[in-house]
Amino acid sequence: MVSNLHKPFIAGNWKMNKTPGEATEFVSQLLIEIQSVEAATVLVCPPFTALAAVSNSLENTRVLLGAQNVHWEREGAFTGEISPPMLRDLFVTHVIIGHSERRAIFHEADEEIHKKVLAAINGGLMPILCVGENLNEREKGKHFSVVQTQLEAALKDVKNPVIIAYEPVWAIGTGQTATPEMAQEMHRYIRKVTTAIVEPASAKEVRILYGGSMKAANAEALLQQPDIDGGLIGGASLNVQEFASIVKIAGSIGQQG
Ligand code: 13P
Repeated sequence: MVSNLHKPFIAGNWKMNKTPGEATEFVSQLLIEIQSVEAATVLVCPPFTALAAVSNSLENTRVLLGAQNVHWEREGAFTGEISPPMLRDLFVTHVIIGHSERRAIFHEADEEIHKKVLAAINGGLMPILCVGENLNEREKGKHFSVVQTQLEAALKDVKNPVIIAYEPVWAIGTGQTATPEMAQEMHRYIRKVTTAIVEPASAKEVRILYGGSMKAANAEALLQQPDIDGGLIGGASLNVQEFASIVKIAGSIGQQG
């Protein structure tokens, strides 16, 4: 039996895609496709409007449910926002925080991301904190310092285990993936920085996912890297066959221990 911590963690970030009907149809097919996969942990992150329907479909299954954002307050006058207890009530266990699309398009700053990480942990949700440099920062050789700054800001005072997703912005939705070696180099660095921040016991439980044009064709090479614990998948998570293929690849790597 492979321990949960050693199973590759495959998360689908559906972004602003799928109605509740499309989402439940997808999940019912996915459950059939991946029923024999034991050695991978699978999470789907539908848009808020599909969470309730997907939550029902996932009852008594091993597939976990995540959200794509959360507010840091529990309730109140925050038009358009969703709180940690609202997500917990739908059996959401994970939440993506600080995705580069939220940073770039919605101007989310490190300070807000930090408040969201703390609120998620305090509210019983596992944060999936996204970090990553843009093309300009990579070309100038600033990628390590950019990621370090993002980690230190978001994880200030955080002692608990967290999930980090390294998503180089230049690889998201572009078809251009970081090479396994480039991703591994950054993942090792992220582990070092994160280990220095959280409690020693938590450090062992920190998982680092790669995100950015991950698909069935490149998943194996990425997931075999020692510091790549899984993937956060956008475009390829919208197609049930493609996503199931990635889960199966992850399952066979997990089986090898
Ligand atoms: P793509 O897999 O479409 O590149 O998106 C990655 C991502 O942003 C996941 O959060």
